[in-house]
Amino acid sequence: MIGKAVTALLRLLDAESAHRATIAALKLLPPLGARAPDDPRLSVSAFGLDFPNPVGLAAGFDKNADVPEAMRALGFGFVEVGTLTPHAQPGNPRPRAFRLLEDRAVVNRYGFNNDGHASALRRLSARRLKGIVGVNIGANKDSPDRIADYVKGVETFADVASYFTINVSSPNTPGLRDLQEPDALLELLARVLEARERATARRPVLLKIAPDLTLDQLDGIVRVARDAHIDGMVVSNTTISRPATLRSPLASESGGLSGAPLFSLSTRVLAQTFLRVEGQFPLIGVGGIDGPDAAFAKLEAGATLVQLYSALVYEGPALIARIKRGLVEAFAERPLSVAIGANAKEIARQG
Ligand SMILES: Cc1cc2nc3c(=O)[nH]c(=O)nc-3n(C[C@H](O)[C@H](O)[C@H](O)COP(=O)(O)O)c2cc1C
Repeated sequence: MIGKAVTALLRLLDAESAHRATIAALKLLPPLGARAPDDPRLSVSAFGLDFPNPVGLAAGFDKNADVPEAMRALGFGFVEVGTLTPHAQPGNPRPRAFRLLEDRAVVNRYGFNNDGHASALRRLSARRLKGIVGVNIGANKDSPDRIADYVKGVETFADVASYFTINVSSPNTPGLRDLQEPDALLELLARVLEARERATARRPVLLKIAPDLTLDQLDGIVRVARDAHIDGMVVSNTTISRPATLRSPLASESGGLSGAPLFSLSTRVLAQTFLRVEGQFPLIGVGGIDGPDAAFAKLEAGATLVQLYSALVYEGPALIARIKRGLVEAFAERPLSVAIGANAKEIARQG
């Protein structure tokens, strides 16, 4: 109830101000008390980690690692902070985030605004509770050696990250997505994994990809990812495409589209990825999850875990418990181990 009222009030602010107010409030008022333990039927093991439930917070909400514990207390099974770049950077000029109300979607072109590695490291090191917190790493816009920025991320956060996500799929840093090309990706993953071997702790490394890839490009990415023996992939980031069904006048704003209209595209790419990975590593399914049915559909497309962000804007935090309740019911019919990828072939063929 309170969550719904607050969500409605925040709607009166522009998207970025609402987000800032939410982070400020979560910092001041972390939800009190221990969180109720999750139903044991929701627990999942992946990448050598034990997740209390498979529903995670996607990157971009807690860019600076301000509130991972508060978000966990709201019920997420894991929280991905970032994207973090070595140096603080302001990102693109405002306005740079837009709610497409009629479409239950968001367009953003933030451009990796963040406080940089050092301050996030301080906050993550000071954390008292020890839930699963992934660190999503990226490159500074003006970096002379972008791959070196990812290497720094792995070196800097090795002690505090439960896992790393290598973000080569943001549409808002010009040229970043070129790192998805096979030669560049090969070098990136080799240097990142080398850094991981040298680091104080050996953390799982995941690769987050765009949904705007041809099947040839996806073939190349999965081949390199499998050869490099990374631990998993996150599918997907926001799309630069604009489905013809969009109704909001803000649909023409440039940037990455997320939320409900991203669901079918990102789920199809997830299924196509699942079929190419052939069980070598698990996948996190992201894009347009707004309820238990969408979450379960991601699992059937090939995800072992899911993440969401945009639907929180529309549904508020009660969404998390609703998805978990729905998943417990769905697992009674079809346990997670049976559901994963059960519809991948069919979904991959669509579209
Ligand atoms: C405002 C906003 C900022 C985002 N920032 C990041 C980011 O910094 N790094 C990243 O990997 N993904 C970022 N994302 C993408 C999300 O992590 C996610 O992949 C995408 O939004 C699809 O999920 P959703 O439809 O549930 O929002 C951002 C998304 C939004 C809406």
